[in-house]
Amino acid sequence: MTSTFLASRNPILFGRGASKRTGEELCALGCKKALVVFDKGVKAAGIVDGILDVIHAAGVETVCYDGVLPDPPDYTVEEAAAIGRAANVDGVVAIGGGSSLDTGKGAKVLLTNPPPISNYYLAHEDIRPDTGAMKPIVVIPTTAGTGSEATPGGIITDTKNNCKQNVPCATDLGIVDPELTLGLPRTVTVTTAADALCHAVEAFTSAESNAISDVLAEKAIALIGANLTRAVQNGADAEAREGLQLAATLAGLSIMGPFCNVPHEIGLTLGMIFHMPHGTACAMTLPEALRFLAPAIPERVAKVARLLGAELPEDAPAETIGAVARNTVATLYSAVGFPKFSEFVKSREEALAAVPAIMEAMAFHFSPRPVAAADVSAILAEAYDR
Ligand SMILES: [Fe+2]
Repeated sequence: MTSTFLASRNPILFGRGASKRTGEELCALGCKKALVVFDKGVKAAGIVDGILDVIHAAGVETVCYDGVLPDPPDYTVEEAAAIGRAANVDGVVAIGGGSSLDTGKGAKVLLTNPPPISNYYLAHEDIRPDTGAMKPIVVIPTTAGTGSEATPGGIITDTKNNCKQNVPCATDLGIVDPELTLGLPRTVTVTTAADALCHAVEAFTSAESNAISDVLAEKAIALIGANLTRAVQNGADAEAREGLQLAATLAGLSIMGPFCNVPHEIGLTLGMIFHMPHGTACAMTLPEALRFLAPAIPERVAKVARLLGAELPEDAPAETIGAVARNTVATLYSAVGFPKFSEFVKSREEALAAVPAIMEAMAFHFSPRPVAAADVSAILAEAYDR
């Protein structure tokens, strides 16, 4: 059997202190005036000012857009791009979590292509942005989760149709500096790491997993298993932060081809309906999804459990493997304080009412086991009761 790994076109500069090179990297890309995109939280944490300082020290001018919102709405992308066009910028720097990076990617498209951003959604196959004239973008993640620095697209909320859309946009450089995550609050650390764990697990358990993505996914799962609890116990543990940041980037790369399956396909719709952050929504059903997938791919589910520290005999039946994998992730969630479903959805019945919308939005193409509405109901019910 063969399947495709889409080798990244996104160069990545990785390492502690890497963000100090932002100014010189912009100069190397020929950028003299950059649109800098971020949210108010990253600014308040002092991260933006430090990066602006090194950009200015390199002689690069900046204009700022600080209006990034979670699940970035289409209109914020258009606002950011309008500021950049008015200032005649010749590049973009996006600083923050996945929402900031995705907003920046959308803004890059609109700097040289006429709005609205909906023209360029991947689902609209008839229109493609002119990539030849595009200005460079440097993305600087400040969470260890989405892996957006490794993926050639931005996820934007289509506010007319209340759904997520993908805007194709390669990055010109990702600057991944684990030191930027040292001050992350515990909940953000946990939910973004859980998002990365999902990327890696879903790539590894995908119907189209392959030998190249497996290497990346296995390493990412092991790094999260080894470092998440440490980073939660001591947010200033630089080694643990570096492990999680490397895991997030590797996990982002691992889904380039196998793509995500059950947890993300359920979570993307859950997030839209119940206004749950992306990582929380997608990781909410990971334990139960692993149990669901075990009968179809027992060896792979067992490998995931072992990479996270579980002990499983070689001859364990699929049912045992599924239960152990589910309990291993659930125990990790308890240890690090992953949010409860009930914090976002008032009742089990309300959660189950989302099933038709999930089935309508998602095809579960990459799931190694066919997924029926009753399966999604069972997964949601178990996750709610956990
Ligand atoms: Fe994700």
